[in-house]
Amino acid sequence: MPQSAFKVLEVLEQADSPISGEIISTKIGITRAAVWKHINELRAMGYDISSSQKEGYRLKKTSSKLLPYEVLKKLKTRFIGKKMRYLENTPSTNWVGKQICSEGEVEKIHGLVIIAEEQTGGIGRMGRAWVSPSGGIWITIVLKPRIPIDHVFMVTMAGSVAVARAIRKEFDLGALIKWPNDIFIGNKKVAGLLLELSAEADTIHHCLLGIGIDVNVPLNQFSPELQKEITSISAELGHEVDRATFLARILKEFENRFLLIESGEYDAIVREWKSLSCTLEQRVHITTMKNSFEGDAIDIDEYGALIIRKDNGKIERVIAGDCFHR
Ligand code: BTN
Repeated sequence: MPQSAFKVLEVLEQADSPISGEIISTKIGITRAAVWKHINELRAMGYDISSSQKEGYRLKKTSSKLLPYEVLKKLKTRFIGKKMRYLENTPSTNWVGKQICSEGEVEKIHGLVIIAEEQTGGIGRMGRAWVSPSGGIWITIVLKPRIPIDHVFMVTMAGSVAVARAIRKEFDLGALIKWPNDIFIGNKKVAGLLLELSAEADTIHHCLLGIGIDVNVPLNQFSPELQKEITSISAELGHEVDRATFLARILKEFENRFLLIESGEYDAIVREWKSLSCTLEQRVHITTMKNSFEGDAIDIDEYGALIIRKDNGKIERVIAGDCFHR
């Protein structure tokens, strides 16, 4: 999408009455034919632009797609999301992230955000499928964190805290974190995070933080089984929300915490994670690759491990697995 198309959009946004193709062309310094071409490109992106021979063009409604242009207008970060890649449709944004990282120097794309309107092969934790119809936020943040590899789980913790905080601040909904990295409203899941890591010995090549949030997704888009377990922001509020403003907020909340991690302030993240946790002090059932057991969730450490006290008093440290609240 050429930059001049967004200049046309800017002119339309600033105009408080219809504006002729001739005035737009003079303002931007392009031909009237180019204005017409860009108007059609913008329409194809979902912007509702009316035109009349007498009066000219008018922006009636902004696009409901999660376009980088709309997010950038609201973004207050230093580096997260300053570069974005937008895809209407892709198997998985994490998969796209892997492709991009394999092509070049990750330092140069640190903070890149890949956005998909829809995913056809979304990936969840433990290799599960992640249903991603249009209306959600399906993104991957590409990172090259300067942290010790054993603290990499902190990145997901920062992501979970950022998503929960953003939901609370934007929509006043009581979002909480269920270990390891699910976001719940009441007893239903609204978002999930997935960290994929490429590393060698103690060097992190790159991290891909995938975030999936059911935002403006009608629940009938999901199977009856899933409908029992999940919710969406629009289902909770009874109306759709502005995804671009919400995403800009998430990215800012995430960047603040990512910078804390890079300066070694792990305690601050763990403290905030604990204050938003719905798992701590719960009776839980844990399933790992090796075994399954029950106990009380008593703590989380700075490596993201859940600490369980079993009924025989023995303490177990769980680094990966599924956790079911009893
Ligand atoms: C989970 O199982 O809870 C984690 C779900 C993570 C889904 C997101 S959506 C964007 C990114 N792309 C993917 O394929 N998965 C993650």
